[in-house]
Amino acid sequence: MSPLNDFSKLEPAVFLKAKEAYGTPAYLYDEALIIQRCKAVLDMPNAYGLGVRYAMKANSNRTILQIVEKHGLLIDASSLNEAKRAVMAGIAPAKIFLTTQEVPAGQERKDLEDLMKKGLKYNVCSLRQLELIAGFARENGIDLSMRIHPGIGSGESATRNTGDKYSCFGVHRSDLEAALQFGKDKGIRFTEVHVHIGSGGDPEIWRSNIDLELGIIEAHFPDCDTVSFGGGLKEARMPGEIYADIEYLGNYAKERIEAFYERNGRKLKMEIEPGTFIVANAGYAVTEVLDKKTTGDDGFNFIVVNGGMEINARPTMYGSQHPFYVISKDGSLLSTEFDLPDTGYNAIIVGRCCESGDSQCLDSQHNIIERKMAEPELGDLIVIGGVGGYCSSMTPFNYNSHIQIPEILAASDGTVRLIRKAQTLEQMVQNEL
Ligand SMILES: Cc1ncc(COP(=O)(O)O)c(C=O)c1O
Repeated sequence: MSPLNDFSKLEPAVFLKAKEAYGTPAYLYDEALIIQRCKAVLDMPNAYGLGVRYAMKANSNRTILQIVEKHGLLIDASSLNEAKRAVMAGIAPAKIFLTTQEVPAGQERKDLEDLMKKGLKYNVCSLRQLELIAGFARENGIDLSMRIHPGIGSGESATRNTGDKYSCFGVHRSDLEAALQFGKDKGIRFTEVHVHIGSGGDPEIWRSNIDLELGIIEAHFPDCDTVSFGGGLKEARMPGEIYADIEYLGNYAKERIEAFYERNGRKLKMEIEPGTFIVANAGYAVTEVLDKKTTGDDGFNFIVVNGGMEINARPTMYGSQHPFYVISKDGSLLSTEFDLPDTGYNAIIVGRCCESGDSQCLDSQHNIIERKMAEPELGDLIVIGGVGGYCSSMTPFNYNSHIQIPEILAASDGTVRLIRKAQTLEQMVQNEL
């Protein structure tokens, strides 16, 4: 039997093995691909050093964090809890960079301070955040980072563009002067400058951001020794999608950072923080066909599977398309998105939620679209690819009181093991009074 696609070398038999051991629906992750992606980003050309931070929001499972850390990645956390979760997975605070919308109060503030004293780097994202954290940073001799709102951005959809005027992440350039003055008055050193254009961004905009950000550092940040270009390295989930050419982007950044050195005599270290690129294609949702229906002669074929928007909300949220693989009960690969048979069969894959948007077949306008595939039988597997990032970590998993599904690792040593148990119904209701 052949592997499913060009990214992952997993054989259909692995999915059957996972099903037999742990049931469906479940997420299945390909460790070898995660490791390969870590190596690829660490090999990115660079001028004076490169740090790669894994954007753990993409997938925060402890085992995934441990795999990427073992293979040389640092951590980008988006909330205090993410930072704490990384520490709970055994990652040192000094490896964590925190970019968040708040400076928490009360006990959480104490926890943040404790982590900062242990080396966590705090990335100031607004003037207000700077006002709240500057006193503590100065008293403890802690340097800060600043996230700049670049004014231009890019993402796979409008809601994933974090850099234009429709989103409020980072210190906008209209606030920059006030923030710098405040920092100066308080004796704060900004040793890192950060920009993130959006998730799964356009490689060309990623490139133009390099110039923009280096210009800002040159003009305003004399203490900066590290430039972070953020995440947003585009990955291709579906055949024909454009992905970021990381060698090209690395070479471009290298050349611009070297030119910066020529002008300023300062050797900047480069950081990037990809999430999607590391895990997206390493994850599969393994579901089983429960039912087959049609909506008449002028209607559609529907395949009802036992996991929908509550395990992959990306189609519902963004109109994202994911590759489908049809695997028969005996383990034959009946169709792969990367080599579609011309059987004339089209269908719409839907989940179990009482929601007509609970479909894996939507376009960017949220229209239902039929997709070509082999016709499955009841009980066959429908495997949804490209769900390693922003699925397990970002779904309304208890909608319709479905349980949070288990996570399984297809380890690089060939074993298939559970890395998160399925939630139980009792756990779902345990905090209700
Ligand atoms: C600040 C920041 N860094 C990195 C990322 C990761 O983006 P991607 O998964 O597209 O690489 C995100 C995604 O939202 C982000 O907000």
